Amino acid sequence: MTPGTSVTVRVPAKVNVQLAVGGVRADGFHPLANVFLAVGLYDEVTATPADELRITCEGPGSEHVPLDRTNLAARAAVALAELHGLAPDVHLHIAKDIPVAGGMAGGSADAAGALLACEVLWGTRTSNDQLLAICAELGSDVPFSYVGGAALGVGRGEQLTPLDVGGEFHWVFAVADGGLSTPAVYGEFDRLARDAGREVPAPEASEALLSALRAGDATALAVALTNDLQPAALSLRPSLAETLATGTDAGALAALVSGSGPTTAFLAKDAEAAARIAEVLLASGTCTAARVAVAPAPGAVVVPVG
Ligand code: C5P
Repeated sequence: MTPGTSVTVRVPAKVNVQLAVGGVRADGFHPLANVFLAVGLYDEVTATPADELRITCEGPGSEHVPLDRTNLAARAAVALAELHGLAPDVHLHIAKDIPVAGGMAGGSADAAGALLACEVLWGTRTSNDQLLAICAELGSDVPFSYVGGAALGVGRGEQLTPLDVGGEFHWVFAVADGGLSTPAVYGEFDRLARDAGREVPAPEASEALLSALRAGDATALAVALTNDLQPAALSLRPSLAETLATGTDAGALAALVSGSGPTTAFLAKDAEAAARIAEVLLASGTCTAARVAVAPAPGAVVVPVG
């Protein structure tokens, strides 16, 4: 790699095949047993030398992406530059394909992509442990966006153990109109538990789910999928129930809200079933786009030039 040229990194979206959420901690975060699966929908982040830190963004929903230093990708560049005593003088261009504020970790993906792109552009030779520590500081989902594949995340979701996946899974993602705020969905989760007088149990990974992933068995995975944030997302966005029902009627093995939503995820038997479910969802008018994607997908990778 010639110093000074652009570096482009491709980075995947995620779906949580299990999102077990415990009671809120003193620091405002929730303890999780979070089974992440990276899916083949990608953002690309290109880092180019510049006189000062600058962000540009293109693609669906890009008008909602902040272009200042609050952008997680900008914060990734600043954190890496600070670690090495450099100025974060870089132009980061984000080509979005992951739904914005959709519960698929698009912002986290951009942070992980920016981190790797700057690391390669600047030749800073940061250790993997340091890169993952920066990821964890930036956000709970960023370490997973960086590593991809499948992993169990505990703590606030940032402490990862890689998981074996024994085959490909075919998914459809129905993109909703507008986003949902992750803190608002966690807040609604707390409110629903409080109002019901419910004691929230400690989160625990499901053995049945981990074994379905290991076996690459879509039917077994479908039975084991759970998202504790789903009632909260549905409470804030009741129309998602219709999208979930539409995908199920179209033959999905299972349907659930992706992370904090509002994107909904549908597990399909195979690629043909996924294409059919996507067609039905789009025609139903219960979503703005329906995307098919295969999992698991790799984490952040540099796109070869040319
Ligand atoms: O870690 P991240 O910045 O992505 O989290 C965004 C928000 O989501 C947090 O401010 C918090 O409100 C909520 N959150 C949580 N528990 C987690 C992860 C996120 O309450 N484990």
